[in-house]
Amino acid sequence: MRILLAGGAGYIGSHVALVLLEAGHEVLVVDDYSNSSRTAIGRVENLTERSVEVIDCDLADLTASRAALHGQQFDAVIHLAGLKAVGESVAKPAHYYRTNLTSTLNLLELMADHGVNKLVFSSSATVYAPAAEGVQNLDEDQPAGTGITNPYGWTKAMNEQIIRDIQHSRPELEAVLLRYFNPVGAHPSGRIGEDPSGIPNNLMPFVAQVAIGRRDRLAVFGDQYPTHDGTGVRDYIHVMDLAEGHLAALDHLRAGVATYNLGTGEGQSVFDVVQAFSDASGREIPYEIVAPRPGDVAKAVADPSKANRELNWRAKRTFAEACRDSWAWQSQNPNGYSAG
Ligand code: WQD
Repeated sequence: MRILLAGGAGYIGSHVALVLLEAGHEVLVVDDYSNSSRTAIGRVENLTERSVEVIDCDLADLTASRAALHGQQFDAVIHLAGLKAVGESVAKPAHYYRTNLTSTLNLLELMADHGVNKLVFSSSATVYAPAAEGVQNLDEDQPAGTGITNPYGWTKAMNEQIIRDIQHSRPELEAVLLRYFNPVGAHPSGRIGEDPSGIPNNLMPFVAQVAIGRRDRLAVFGDQYPTHDGTGVRDYIHVMDLAEGHLAALDHLRAGVATYNLGTGEGQSVFDVVQAFSDASGREIPYEIVAPRPGDVAKAVADPSKANRELNWRAKRTFAEACRDSWAWQSQNPNGYSAG
């Protein structure tokens, strides 16, 4: 199929592009490069020896997007385009709502214009309310769309609702919502990876930058949580497993809206991450314990059994492999995609 990959130059997007190309699909990337690099696309083309068509436009601008996509043919859309920094969303809520919701509404309209009914949407475990007492792993029936602690998370929950309501009015629409847990790692070649602009919000890229010497030390956001070592526990999924989950979702599309967790089902604490990354890189990772980050939950680990069963997909790579591959990327690209 020819896939319109919205946000295809980003961290997740570049890995999804690579997996789609290797599966024989054609890829049309639409990206505004607000949090990504055109270089990543060139790296994907080199790795796959396939070419990618790229359209530089802001999907939140319907007029520009309609013009940019005029005459384009595509069979399905994978929508990864959106702002994703939790902390920034608290500081700039209007920007997040306008960008993340408008781009989805526009994409759905452009799909109707082009007669396209297949959609895979990048959602997030952030839509889940904090796990109730005693709940070990979050399944898709857990309460979602309540108790969200930041505008970024709300935009994911609202986008899910927008897609459900539009599918109700457009029964031929086939949609899959993929609730990512914590994507980490890189393609094993180390040629593509995570290149956050500015100070990394997320743990793994920050740890990688400490290991490479770009940051002095890690601030551990609290060590008094009710977890095995007091630090926050998350479900870190290798980005290649995540990318393969999108391919599986494409093959599963049916009329309606289906929702799946993409996670490993295993939890790692912050201290587990520090130790594993130090083992993978051979570098010390200095850290200091600081106050907990507002909005953080103690633990968020997936129950991925529905995706395992219905998508015939399973996370195959270990957390140690994710640290190895993340280190390969960071050590080969100390400054990410920017030269120098
Ligand atoms: C992981 C753990 C922190 C940084 C968010 C979004 C989610 C997705 C992934 C975009 C927590 C601790 C972190 C640091 C730390 N976002 N930590 N020091 O918050 O689970 O999920 O990012 O797609 O939608 O909600 O990820 O990597 O920020 O934090 O101690 O400098 O690491 O407290 O326990 P999170 P994270």
